[in-house]
Amino acid sequence: MRAAIIGETKVRGEVEVGGAKNASLPILAAVLVNSKNINLKRLPSLADVDEMLKLLSASGVKILRKDDIFSFSYSELKGDLSDIPSKIRASILLLGPLALKTGKAVLSYPGGCNIGKRPIDIHIQGLKKLGFTVDVEEEFIKAEFLKAPKEVNIKLPFPSVGATEHLMITSSMMSETTVCLSNCAMEPEIVDLQRFLNSMGAKIDGAGTPNIKIKGVSSFSNVDFKIMGDRIEAGTYIILSLIANGSLIINGIDRKFLNYVDFFQRIGAQVETEKSRIIVKPSKITSFKISTAPYPGFPTDLQPQTTVLACKANGNSIIMENIFENRFGHVEELIKMGAAIKRNGNIIEVKGPKKFKAARLIGKDLRETAAVTLAAIIAEGKSTIENFDILFRGYEKIAEKLQNIGVNIIL
Ligand code: EPZ
Repeated sequence: MRAAIIGETKVRGEVEVGGAKNASLPILAAVLVNSKNINLKRLPSLADVDEMLKLLSASGVKILRKDDIFSFSYSELKGDLSDIPSKIRASILLLGPLALKTGKAVLSYPGGCNIGKRPIDIHIQGLKKLGFTVDVEEEFIKAEFLKAPKEVNIKLPFPSVGATEHLMITSSMMSETTVCLSNCAMEPEIVDLQRFLNSMGAKIDGAGTPNIKIKGVSSFSNVDFKIMGDRIEAGTYIILSLIANGSLIINGIDRKFLNYVDFFQRIGAQVETEKSRIIVKPSKITSFKISTAPYPGFPTDLQPQTTVLACKANGNSIIMENIFENRFGHVEELIKMGAAIKRNGNIIEVKGPKKFKAARLIGKDLRETAAVTLAAIIAEGKSTIENFDILFRGYEKIAEKLQNIGVNIIL
C-alpha cells in the first residue's frame, strides 16, 4: 500500500495509545495454558495480533469477540500448524505450550521484521532443559515433550525477551516442575505476562528482575484481563511531537512504563508525565548520544524514530544499536530527504539540525517505516511511502490517529 504525506505539519491535539503489541503477542500464546474461559480487554487491532489469532484458531482455540472483549476457550488442541506460514516472530512462543499440551508441535519457522538473523537458539536450549526434544528442519521447527524434570535452573546466555516469555509460559503448566530462570529480560511486557498468568492461577515470581521462579500448576481458572498500554507507540508519538515542534497529549499509558522519558527531558524535551498520560510541548532539542540495550536501557524499538529526532537536534548525535545487527534500514531513506548520517558498523553519527525535503520512501520493517513516516510529516512537500501497510502490524489505527492530530496523509 502506498501512502502520500504532505509535510511540514505542526501536530497538535490528543492521541490514545492502544494495547501493547509486545504484551499482547506473548499473552495470546499463554492462552494455550488454560482451557477455561479467558476474556481479554484492550487487545489492539494489529496485523501481528491477527496473525497470532489465526494460529490460535488453527490449533483449536475457540475465539469470540464482543465489542472490545476477545474471549478464548478450547476443549482440545492440535499440535501440527505446519501448514500455516508464520509472518511473525512471536509464533515461536506457541511451540512449548502446544508441544506440552499435545505431546508434539510443528510450526513454520518464525517470520518477523528483517532486522537481523534473529536466531532461536536460546528458545531451543531452554526447551531442551525443560524436557523437550526440538528439531529444526528447513522451514519447520518441531518440539516433542518427553519428561519433565523436578527442578531445573536455566541461565539465558542473553536476556532475550521472547525466550524469557517462552520459558515462563511453558514452565507455568509443568505441574511437577520448579524452574529458575536467570539472566532474564526485564521488559514491562514480561511483567504484564506474569500478571496475566498469575491472574489465572500460575505461580510465577520475579518478572521484571533478572531472576524468575516458576512453580508449574496443573489447573487454571477463568480470567478477565486488560492488557497494558503500548510504550513504544507512545514513544513514537512523543518523538513526532518533538520533531514537529507541536503540542500533543498522549493518553492511555501508565507513567511507570515510561523509563525513557527522562532521556528526552535531559536533551531539552518539554515532556511531562501524569498517572496515565504524557504531555509534550514545543521544545529545543540538543544533540545526544544513545546506546540501545535490554530494559531498562534505551529501547531498540525506538532507535529508528530517535534517529529522526537526532536529525532535528542542535549538533552532532551518536546512536549505537546493540540489539539487532541490521536495524539501520531507515538511514538511507532519511539521507534521501536531506539527512546527514554516517554509519560505521553498529554506530551512526547524525548531524543536526537538518531540514527534510519530500522524497519517494520505502517501508522495510515496522519501526523503520515509523521513522520514515515521522520524517515525511515534517518534510517540505509531498512524500510517498511504499509498503505503508507495514505500520498496521504495530500501530493501531495509525492513519486515523495521524489525521486527528493534523497530518495530511492520503492512503
Ligand atoms: C522482542 O523481540 C520484541 N518483539 C522486539 O520488538 C524487540 O525489539 C525485542 O524483543 C528486543 O526488545 C516482541 O516482543 C514480539 P530478543 P525478540 O529475543 O523476542 C538475539 C518490534 O519492533 N537472540 O530479545 O525477538 C536476537 O537475535 C519488535 O516491536 C538470539 O541470539 O527479541 C537479538 O539480537 C522488533 N537467540 C537479541 O537476542 C535467541 O534465541 C534480542 O532478541 C533469541 C534472541
